[in-house]
Amino acid sequence: MSSKIALVTGASSGIGKATAEVLARRGYKLILVGRRLAKLRQLCEALGTQETCLPLQCDFFEIDRIAAALQSIPAELQQVDVLINNAGNALGFDTAQQSDWQDWERMINLNCTALARVTHYFLPGMVARNSGHIVNLGSVAAVYPYKSGNVYGASKAFVAMFSRNLKVDLLGTAVRVTNIEPGMVSDTEFTDVRVQGDAAKVEAIKGGVNALRAVDIANTIDWVLQQPAHVNINRVELMPVAQAAAGLAYHRVNT
Ligand SMILES: NC(=O)c1ccc[n+]([C@@H]2O[C@H](COP(=O)([O-])OP(=O)(O)OC[C@H]3O[C@@H](n4cnc5c(N)ncnc54)[C@H](OP(=O)(O)O)[C@@H]3O)[C@@H](O)[C@H]2O)c1
Repeated sequence: MSSKIALVTGASSGIGKATAEVLARRGYKLILVGRRLAKLRQLCEALGTQETCLPLQCDFFEIDRIAAALQSIPAELQQVDVLINNAGNALGFDTAQQSDWQDWERMINLNCTALARVTHYFLPGMVARNSGHIVNLGSVAAVYPYKSGNVYGASKAFVAMFSRNLKVDLLGTAVRVTNIEPGMVSDTEFTDVRVQGDAAKVEAIKGGVNALRAVDIANTIDWVLQQPAHVNINRVELMPVAQAAAGLAYHRVNT
């Protein structure tokens, strides 16, 4: 059992929630971050006592408020050992030329800027203590383009390269960095959020696909964290068996 401290962003649903559950079973003290405080409180109650689980409300769209929220964490929980940078969403499912600018701006804020802000806050402490593990939630969308992936895929490419660059800067320390790159995960709110709850669109995107489950990603994170201290899993790409990168597209003129 661990007595370490883990902070999970986006723990109110989906992959973050499943990861919090796995880490709680491992004995981590948890700080669970998100906007929906009631859901975080509910999860903390289900997982442990007040001393071992702290719900922390923070809206990552408001970048300038993130540091203050993190500073409000009590001193005894400030020395985070494991940072799970999971909060993220795709917003909108339109081609680039039809997209809403606000969706793009919010994806960049949430998936890139907020992730960098949280990392920047905890990184010096990890280096000073010469221990720690940062696990980022990237996506196959960073590597394989798809129609209407536009800024979401680009934001996850940021996460992939940020992870690799962190690894270089941390060389010579014991701090580890991993980028988890899942394909389609079905039992999260991701697609509902993306299409604002439009059931027909949700069905069109993921209906009939035997996709990954949030717990599959949580178990992968658990495996990454369980590796011996000298092992750094740089990246893990995982997909459902029922998904593949299907190659190039063509527009053909009538001849
Ligand atoms: N589902 C997939 O197919 C898939 C595939 C590859 C990668 N991923 C990545 O996995 C991660 C988790 O996604 P998921 O599938 O578990 O989706 P999800 O169920 O929608 O979870 C997203 C989490 O992010 C939090 N969040 C969203 N906006 C936020 C904000 N402004 N401030 C703070 N927290 C915010 C949400 O909490 P609140 O709403 O309470 O704030 C929620 O807990 C994301 O980074 C996503 O890009 C997902």
